[in-house]
Amino acid sequence: EKAGFDHFMLKEIHEQPKAYRDTMLGRISEDGRSVELPELKMTAEQLKGINRVHIVACGTALHAGLVGKNVIESLVRVPVETDVASEYRYRSPIITPDTLVIVVSQSGETADTLAALREAQRCGARVLAITNVVGSSVAREADDVIITLAGPEIAVASTKAYSSQLIAFFLFGLYWAQTVGTQDDSAAAQVLAAMQALPEQVEKILAQAETIKEVAESISHHSSLFFIGRGVDYAVAMEGSLKLKEISYIHSEAYAAGELKHGTLALIEEGTPVIALLTQEDLYEKMLSNIKETKARGAHVLGIVNEGHEQETAKSVDRLFAIPRTLPLLTPALSVVPLQLLSYYASLALGHDVDKPRNLAKSVTVE
Ligand code: F6R
Repeated sequence: EKAGFDHFMLKEIHEQPKAYRDTMLGRISEDGRSVELPELKMTAEQLKGINRVHIVACGTALHAGLVGKNVIESLVRVPVETDVASEYRYRSPIITPDTLVIVVSQSGETADTLAALREAQRCGARVLAITNVVGSSVAREADDVIITLAGPEIAVASTKAYSSQLIAFFLFGLYWAQTVGTQDDSAAAQVLAAMQALPEQVEKILAQAETIKEVAESISHHSSLFFIGRGVDYAVAMEGSLKLKEISYIHSEAYAAGELKHGTLALIEEGTPVIALLTQEDLYEKMLSNIKETKARGAHVLGIVNEGHEQETAKSVDRLFAIPRTLPLLTPALSVVPLQLLSYYASLALGHDVDKPRNLAKSVTVE
């Protein structure tokens, strides 16, 4: 059942190329210039009338939503707020009939996410669900559903479900942008071509797992570390940090790299590991200066960079991992993979139960 892998988590990490292909299958026009989502019931007119978006979810699914916010805002130019599902209902969110509420849930059964969906509908909003389980409560109750085709996810730590949610956001964001005309067909064709290259690019990353394993073994001796990034890299940093805490029980924090100097830098000591993501070209120089700030306090930095930037970055970091080049907005679908491997190998090095971490359940059906 684990198909030769030692753990479900590792198997599921390796299933991501297939999960990406399956989630895109039948949703890209034959000429590669537009997204097709025939499952959506909402009309083009309805979509054009949406003037705000709330993305609501828990844990890893919320982290996918943070990337989703960047995707929708940059492709469609509609303002997006993201909320922890267990907070959403209690802050009297401003939900109008022109609000689209997007709930994201692998299982489709998370109690807080389901409650947020119901509250949104009660206030007259349309709810779109991104979920991995056909027939789940969330899938049944939402007005529209985009199913991720990641296949069953057994390991408690979510990997392929998260990354397939990213693919769903890319597809939906592009579909919406084409509907309202913020992206023309040739721009869409460029994004779609880059998306179709992602599965092979993930394979390339997986083939370099050994490098990550070595880093994981060295960080497993530490009690605290930091993940830093800017833009979508910050969203991925949060996911990397959660994954590491969840299965290795090593404390870590994700920080927007520019925010470190407003307090957290005090926690960086000689040898503190810092995982720095530098995949956003427009923020690259800024990241380098943030890395310098950590190195000046003795941090030991692993830099995750785009291919082609190795030499330049090597001067500023202790170790490097390069990911294949894609469009800036799509990088999370690649950069999360080394972080998943990092938490997997750290947990393994510490002898923990990778697939069933302590104190956690796969699906949280209490509020
Ligand atoms: C982390 C993890 C959890 C879930 C969260 C939401 O690896 O698995 O953070 O992402 O409990 O679950 P779903 O997506 O089923 O609503």
